[in-house]
Amino acid sequence: MNMIRARIAGTGSATPEMILNNADLEAIVDTSDDWIIKRTGIRERRIALKGRNETTLNLATSASLKALEMAKIGADALDMIVVGTVSQDMHFPSVACFVQDALNAKKAAAFDVSAGCTGFLYALSVASNAIATGTCRSALVIGVERLSAMTNWEDRTTCVLFGDGAGAVVLTSSQDDGILASALGADGTCWELLYSPNGSPNVPEILKDTYRKPFFIKMDGNRLFKKAIISMADISSEVLEKSGVSPSDIRLVVPHQANFRIIQALAERLSIPMEKVYVNIHKYGNTSSASIPIALDEAAREGLLGPGDIVLLTAFGAGLTWGASVIRWSF
Ligand code: UT7
Repeated sequence: MNMIRARIAGTGSATPEMILNNADLEAIVDTSDDWIIKRTGIRERRIALKGRNETTLNLATSASLKALEMAKIGADALDMIVVGTVSQDMHFPSVACFVQDALNAKKAAAFDVSAGCTGFLYALSVASNAIATGTCRSALVIGVERLSAMTNWEDRTTCVLFGDGAGAVVLTSSQDDGILASALGADGTCWELLYSPNGSPNVPEILKDTYRKPFFIKMDGNRLFKKAIISMADISSEVLEKSGVSPSDIRLVVPHQANFRIIQALAERLSIPMEKVYVNIHKYGNTSSASIPIALDEAAREGLLGPGDIVLLTAFGAGLTWGASVIRWSF
């Protein structure tokens, strides 16, 4: 008997219009285009503005509408909406409930998942398990962040890294293709490597129209760097073994986009050539939960994926948390 699996039936993404490039940042903190590119691979990032009404909800909704259109299903067919985010517009209710309202997805259960930059993979795992166990037949999974609202524009060690955006996938059920296996991990003992304490940093003139939250981001980038590589490599190997897939079967790796050097080191550890690794960090920086679904959507729309292709997703983030999924692509 064939297993029921969740398959990705459509992808979508949305990013704010404003581009903040490395030269703009040179005018804000003591940094350089050269340092940022060499150490991170980032050339520019997108920043959500109040004047453009680029709220977390609106970014999430735009990405979702594109994913639903690609999947050719109506929002009224959705049974579940799960959003990975740490930068919701309001403390509560969840972004997922606002999206449910915006899409008029009347019969969908809706909730958010907080797992740092691994939020999308945690959300994907929850929703795909709900489909595999028959709890629901279709789901919308979103990764959305507006970390610019928490950026300390006086801290050059973090403010050059992050960007805003949203990505979404529509899941339906399948007998053959789809999410073959997922694995998740966490280590709360290392929470101090990346967290969001209270603070009200100054905002430079060029960024006066950004949304503000009463806390910002603190990170021990050096220690995270090593942990990110080891955690993503280990959990990727675990999930590949679980799904009976060898690294040479992989068509495309879509990793969390935190640092180009982390992505390179991960590929090396997994013995996967960089030609099979999707990278768009130069355009968006680190968009946390949104990075994988934005990259997956771009890869799908660029025609890099076809039926039967094996895709590996892996992420790492605050918590600490990490995760991976192996997918047999179906369209
Ligand atoms: O999203 C999931 C979680 N996040 C991550 O996984 C991020 C992981 N960490 C990283 O990506 C890297 O550690 C960073 C990009 C954050 C930093 O790169 P690094 O190569 O680890 O640099 P570093 O922290 O070792 O700093 C090297 C030097 C320091 O100066 P000294 O002490 O050598 O004089 C820093 O003060 O670079 C300096 N520096 C900067 N210089 C110019 C730090 N930030 C900047 C900056 N511009 N923006």
